[in-house]
Amino acid sequence: MKKKLLSALLSTAMVASLLVGCGSAAAPAADAAAPAAEAAPAAEEAPAAEEAAPAAEEAPAAEAAAPKEIGTIGVAMPTKDLQRWNQDGENMKKELEAAGYTVDLQYADNTVATQVSQIENMIANGDSILVLASIDGSSLGTVLEGAKAANIPVIAYDRLIMNTDAVSYYATFDNYMVGTKQGEYIRDTLDLDNAEGPFNLEIFTGDPGDNNAQFFYGGAMDILNPYIDAGKLVIQSGQKDFAEVATANWDTATAQSRMENIISSYYAGGEKIDVVLCSNDSTALGVENALESAYKGEWPIITGQDCDKPNVKNMIAGKQSMSIFKDTRTLASQVVKMVDAIAQGTEVPVNDTETYDNGTGVIPSYLCEPVFADVNNYKELLIDSGYYTEDDLK
Ligand code: GAL
Repeated sequence: MKKKLLSALLSTAMVASLLVGCGSAAAPAADAAAPAAEAAPAAEEAPAAEEAAPAAEEAPAAEAAAPKEIGTIGVAMPTKDLQRWNQDGENMKKELEAAGYTVDLQYADNTVATQVSQIENMIANGDSILVLASIDGSSLGTVLEGAKAANIPVIAYDRLIMNTDAVSYYATFDNYMVGTKQGEYIRDTLDLDNAEGPFNLEIFTGDPGDNNAQFFYGGAMDILNPYIDAGKLVIQSGQKDFAEVATANWDTATAQSRMENIISSYYAGGEKIDVVLCSNDSTALGVENALESAYKGEWPIITGQDCDKPNVKNMIAGKQSMSIFKDTRTLASQVVKMVDAIAQGTEVPVNDTETYDNGTGVIPSYLCEPVFADVNNYKELLIDSGYYTEDDLK
């Protein structure tokens, strides 16, 4: 029954919409992968936050336009270990259910095989649309052949799914902008254009299988590289290339042990660590744990991303300097708008058709705008907005 309804939808307006959406994705453009630096202009052109705002107003009209008989929406999240994905999963479920959909929400414990089998089940159960936050962006090509064969649209959630033309759309935050905001914070806080320096910097980024990690790292390094080249920022460990500073699975313990090694090998004589670029909060937490146990100097500048609770607590305690807030409610409501449009066969809202090439072509994307957070604005951003309660941060 669900399948019949979906085929009917697919065979009419939706096909048109999907063809528009995926047209460029069909073109083989593997070597046209967008270098991170090119992402900046797109980000500037797209006032994502403002565009996201009218979502609430549009929702009732969308609900009235079509009965939500489209069936189950399969939502796959990578892990419950990191707070942000719990938040993402809950918001997606809540918002999709509020819009009238049935939701099958799965978490995969950061295990690719588990995620693959969850997606297999979603396809076998006849789910109508898949919303997938991948663990390893390059490991879903085979299972998604099944989705494509069954005409099930796939929305890549937060992380791009690579090397498969089964992906219809991508919804994320502007990942390159996350990195530039971190780099600019370091540049401005150390006043790198005027201060003499040199300042000691160490770098921690994320999982090599997560396409986002390249964008975070690329955005930050585009800001910091000139100062490294000029000798104002010095990396005592010499660990600078992406492969050397990556953190498998974004794992806190892995970041912690690498930082402990760096401290004992390069800073044991009392040298000062001025700044640690961390692409996200789980890596920042590992660095902070290592500093706490093995480093005697003043807290360095430390960047982060996600505003995870332990990190906001560390920010309040003066141990982490900043984080990037990516309000998962904004992303969830953007994805609901995509789902609605697919279900109704109307044009799917995207604001970037240049940046995210998954190896089969550019995937039409909606980029939400990340927001700078620190000890001065966290109350307004996180508590007043209802994202956390005061008790959450005690
Ligand atoms: C990234 C995501 C970040 C961070 C990281 C670790 O893909 O964009 O917000 O959570 O994964 O889970």
